Amino acid sequence: MQLLKSPLNYTGNKFRILPQIQPYFPKKIDTMVDLFCGGATVGLNTECKKIIFIDNDKYVIGLLRFLAKSKFETLLTELEKLITFYELSYSAKYGYSLYKSQIRDFNFNNGLKDYNAKGYYKLRDDYNALKNKHTDIANKMLYLLMVYAFNNDMRFSHTGMFNLPVGKTDLNKNNIEKLKAYIDRLQNIDADFICADFTSTKAREIIKSADFVYMDPPYLIMNAVYNEAGKWNEQKEYELLRLMNYFLENNKKFVLSNVLEKQGRRNEPLFYWTTTMQEKIKIIDINYNYRSSSYNKKNRNAQEREVIIIPED
Ligand SMILES: C[S@@+](CC[C@H](N)C(=O)[O-])C[C@H]1O[C@@H](n2cnc3c(N)ncnc32)[C@H](O)[C@@H]1O
Repeated sequence: MQLLKSPLNYTGNKFRILPQIQPYFPKKIDTMVDLFCGGATVGLNTECKKIIFIDNDKYVIGLLRFLAKSKFETLLTELEKLITFYELSYSAKYGYSLYKSQIRDFNFNNGLKDYNAKGYYKLRDDYNALKNKHTDIANKMLYLLMVYAFNNDMRFSHTGMFNLPVGKTDLNKNNIEKLKAYIDRLQNIDADFICADFTSTKAREIIKSADFVYMDPPYLIMNAVYNEAGKWNEQKEYELLRLMNYFLENNKKFVLSNVLEKQGRRNEPLFYWTTTMQEKIKIIDINYNYRSSSYNKKNRNAQEREVIIIPED
């Protein structure tokens, strides 16, 4: 299977290390749960009869679900209408140089930022003014916001306002290819998108019915948007460990991704759990050499121990 990139540019996505994780997945999977799915990269690239994506971020789940049910050509036409309405650049169609030549800012590092600033902030204001952010039009606007935003990311304030500044890029060929590949794949698989906390009864019922669970929670010792404001803390980590105890007691197959150590900090609850469970689990170190060279260097300098944890056969 050719590996697909998520249409969502997701911090901490597992695309680069998929070849190291997947050999530890069961050879035959009926129902898989991609728990803490984020941009859905892992489930998207796993062969199974049914895949259930779970994340507690309603915007992420809403957007993934919306894109999955969209028809590519229709969606693209509608995105183009919005691009025209907000007078944004569209390098996939008209080329990058057309816009670059119109910018007075000579700093090449700023990309298309100046060209798109006015339209982007208007789009952002209109999106933030929407009463219901879960309609089709809201999702189309959100997709475009992400594509034109700083770092192509998605970030909301506590009051639900999209709050990233304008970025340097636009709807380019790369984004369109990712969108098309995602829609094509989702139309050929049986997938559900569930917005739920992993501790909720809803998530627990789904997890219980699956025969394989891949888990990529926020990492206790790292900073990411989804760990902000104490969203992920030691209490959540202990809940996760309880869930893995349940898996071990019930012979449920699972793979957990995590970072055990970084720059002298250690995920103590997880580390302690691994020592008490050492006969029942295996820890596999992720090899940084698989990563791109810049990432590689960054990780080595950061003395990071990224691992996957699986049940002992
Ligand atoms: C490390 S990211 C997952 C990245 C993903 N594997 C990928 O490849 O894109 C962790 C995810 O956990 C989600 N999350 C955080 N707390 C959660 C909770 N209590 N229940 C369910 N999901 C949660 C976040 O919204 C975030 O998307």
